[in-house]
Amino acid sequence: MTKRLLFAANWKMHLGPTGAAAFLDGFLPEFTPRDDREVWLFPPALTLPSVVARVAGTGIVCGAQNVHWEEAGAFTGEVSVPLAADAGAEAVLIGHSERRHVFGETDKETGLKLRASLTGGLRPVFCVGETLDERESGATVEVVTRQLGVLAGLTPANLSTTVIAYEPVWAIGTGKTATTGDAARVHSAIREWMIEHAAPPEAVRVLYGGSVKPGNVVELVAEAEIDGVLVGGASLKAESWSEIVNAHVD
Ligand code: PGA
Repeated sequence: MTKRLLFAANWKMHLGPTGAAAFLDGFLPEFTPRDDREVWLFPPALTLPSVVARVAGTGIVCGAQNVHWEEAGAFTGEVSVPLAADAGAEAVLIGHSERRHVFGETDKETGLKLRASLTGGLRPVFCVGETLDERESGATVEVVTRQLGVLAGLTPANLSTTVIAYEPVWAIGTGKTATTGDAARVHSAIREWMIEHAAPPEAVRVLYGGSVKPGNVVELVAEAEIDGVLVGGASLKAESWSEIVNAHVD
C-alpha cells in the first residue's frame, strides 16, 4: 500500500488575513487534491477563519497552533479547543518546540492540551524533539520518549487520531536538517513506542520537521519511516509550499 503523505504548514507568527489571502491566491491555483496526500495548514489564530473559508471544498485541513486546556473562562489572550473548533479548526499543534522552549510549556501542560484537544474533537499533531545539547550527549531517544510519555494511557482510537511530529530543535529554522538516516532511527523508536502503547500500527503517523524545503523534501518523504513533513519557513511562500506539496515522489 502506498502511504498517504501528510504535508503540514506551520505559519508561526506570520501571515495575517491579508498576507494569507495573497498566499492562497498564489497557492490554490497550484493545488490539486490527491488521494495519496493530505495538506494541513496551521495559520495564526486570527487568520484561521479566513483561511478556513477560502479552502472550503478543497480537502485542506486547517488547525490551530496552540490551545489552552480549559474550555472557557478568564484566560486573557488564550484560545480554547471549543473556540478553535468554532473558528473551523480540525487539527491542532501541541508541544511545538517554540511552545516548550520559548514559552516554557511543560510536559504536563502538553498532556493537558492533548487530552483537551482529543475530547474536543481536534486532531493533534504532537511535536517532540531534542535540543543540540541533548543530541550531543546521546539523549535523543530518551528525551523523545519522555515527551511521548503524556500519551501513555490514551485509547487506541485516540492514539490513531494523534499524529507525531519529530522536530529536532537544532534543525528548526536553522537550515540544518537531520540526515534521513538519523530521522528514520528516531521515527522508528517513536513508532515502536506508539505500538507498545496500544496504537494500531497502521494508524501511526510520524512527520519530520526542521528546515524542510523543496530541495530536501523528496529524499525525506521517500524514507519509509517518514509519513510526511511539518514545515515552517518554506511554507510561508506560495511558490515553495506548492513545490513541497507537489513534490514528485516515486
Ligand atoms: P522550519 O520550522 O521549517 O522553519 O525549520 C519547522 C517548525 O518549526 O515546525
